[in-house]
Amino acid sequence: MRVDELDTPVPVIDLDRVEHNLAKMQAYCDLHGLKLRPHIKTHKLPAFARRQLELGAVGITCQKIGEARVMAEAGCADILLTYPVVGATKVAPLAEVAARTRLTVALDNAVALETVARAAHLAGTEIGVLVEFDSGDGRCGVQSADEALELARRAHGNGPLAFRGFMTYPHGPRTAPFLAAARPLFEAAGIPVETVSIGGTPGCWDAHLVEGATELRVGTYIYHDRATVGAGVAAPEDCALHVHATVVSRPTATRAVIDAGSKTLSSDRVAAAVGEGYGHILEYPDAVITRLNEEHGVVDLSDCDTRPAIGERIRILPNHVCVVSNLHDAVVVGRNGTVVDTWPVAARGCTR
Ligand SMILES: Cc1ncc(COP(=O)(O)O)c(C=O)c1O
Repeated sequence: MRVDELDTPVPVIDLDRVEHNLAKMQAYCDLHGLKLRPHIKTHKLPAFARRQLELGAVGITCQKIGEARVMAEAGCADILLTYPVVGATKVAPLAEVAARTRLTVALDNAVALETVARAAHLAGTEIGVLVEFDSGDGRCGVQSADEALELARRAHGNGPLAFRGFMTYPHGPRTAPFLAAARPLFEAAGIPVETVSIGGTPGCWDAHLVEGATELRVGTYIYHDRATVGAGVAAPEDCALHVHATVVSRPTATRAVIDAGSKTLSSDRVAAAVGEGYGHILEYPDAVITRLNEEHGVVDLSDCDTRPAIGERIRILPNHVCVVSNLHDAVVVGRNGTVVDTWPVAARGCTR
């Protein structure tokens, strides 16, 4: 079956482009002596996690315990969880994952540290700890090297916990100054820092310039999207996932309605400099998806020389591809326009 015969809306992944993106990132990391630890939040597919590991990744990154459980069951033997796990309800699920895989958890506070310690005791196995620091994004992360040292002291030599180093997201101008401040403090305290994990596809090709970084966590690079193309880190022909949709109404000369709304594309926008609307239509590059309801996408065709007919199929490059994966029960994988298989998105919807 050809991909353009599939019922719509449907996310379709080009396997050759995926392979190209995976191989390119692995080659970059190998060239610069960086360990690659892909974030599976973008694809949420065991088959692609296994392929990333086969190509040379040292392990994978997950955001939630539920994602880690799916990937551990799929045979991923080394998992970094980059979300602080806090509270008694997390102890048993975390212990379950720790019993199946070499687990490391990134955290920035003592409450999360205590949760991880309890999980390690329950599982009867070691769990690694990375202290997360804030490189300027203003999300999680300790704010100073002193704070990092205090947390590391609590983890270092604390029963089944093993302090392994630092994590930050995304890396930026404040990454190197933090590491420079932390290095002498940790040396003086006799606490070894084996891992410095940085991440984010927008800054991926500069990762080797971050002094002291040992590991790169990237997710979006597997598919790329309108945001990473807009950021200049990928070309349109690198984009591996497109949503195929159908024009279902043409109420006016300049308006089309497509069968892809917020349940299909998500409501994520891109930076104004990258473009307007909720995705880029390949066949009509001057069209703007101006509005989404759950099932309707409203498209402004005012600037288009040619305009689609009712029933016509279009392909949309999503603004933010990770959330699109999360919205779909299954994705179609194809090659040269032909369907190869349909895969359930096994780790979708893991909010816990
Ligand atoms: C902690 C962490 N690491 C790595 C990534 C991967 O970022 P990207 O998808 O830009 O490669 C993310 C993405 O949200 C993240 O939150």
